[in-house]
Amino acid sequence: MTAPYLLEARGLVRRDPRTATTLLHATAFALAAGQRAVITGPSGSGKSVFMRALALLDPIDEGRVLWHGRDIDRHVIPRFRRSVAYVRQRPALVEGSVEDNLRYPYSLHAYRDVRFDRGLAERLAAAAGRGDDFLAKRASDLSGGEAQVASLIRVLQLAPEVLLLDEPTASLDPESTRAIEALVTDWFDADRSRRASIWVSHDPVQAERIGDRRFTMRAGALTEPKETIE
Ligand SMILES: Nc1ncnc2c1ncn2[C@@H]1O[C@H](COP(=O)(O)OP(=O)(O)O)[C@@H](O)[C@H]1O
Ligand SMILES: [Mg+2]
Repeated sequence: MTAPYLLEARGLVRRDPRTATTLLHATAFALAAGQRAVITGPSGSGKSVFMRALALLDPIDEGRVLWHGRDIDRHVIPRFRRSVAYVRQRPALVEGSVEDNLRYPYSLHAYRDVRFDRGLAERLAAAAGRGDDFLAKRASDLSGGEAQVASLIRVLQLAPEVLLLDEPTASLDPESTRAIEALVTDWFDADRSRRASIWVSHDPVQAERIGDRRFTMRAGALTEPKETIE
């Protein structure tokens, strides 16, 4: 038997709760371990609506999300969230230092079995081209690029299986963009047979670098155009 998909959507629909307008039309999507999907499409086409539904961050109006081939029961959601991490365009950091931010998840019930590893955090910061002083910096003093690096390290130190990256570099300078791409690539390469990602990007050149399956979102409809070149 072949392994089930890591993450799958069947007939996933999202509507505007106020007007009942359909934001995401019945969507089928399946992501296997080892795959890196990229979604492009115009602004307002439903990319974030889809990603947030897939991450179970917003209520689903119709359809199912499956994880390892199974429906996600309520009691499984904490484990699902630990495994499937959503990274937003504008990171939300708590007050305090970068290290305080990196320690934060370990204060949550869902992570009570793991402890903050400073060495790992330092290695991740170095991989993103940040100096030794990065962990001591105040979150409020960080540039947009540094804040995104901190936010991504906060996720990656917990070794998720799936990253849902929602335009994480959309407002960043090229150097920070490269740092984010390097962190994600290192994470993926460390365990390709068990990991997968979906990256929403409006940059076709970036899509080429960071993905191997291409999807397009238009007016709430997700398609995977056939490859024209084999
Ligand atoms: N929670 C919501 N309630 C109502 N409308 C929403 C909600 N979230 C997004 N929308 C609308 O759905 C459409 C798609 O939004 P979004 O997924 O954010 O687009 P993008 O492709 O730029 O990420 C937009 O018209 C947006 O205004
Ligand atoms: Mg969006």
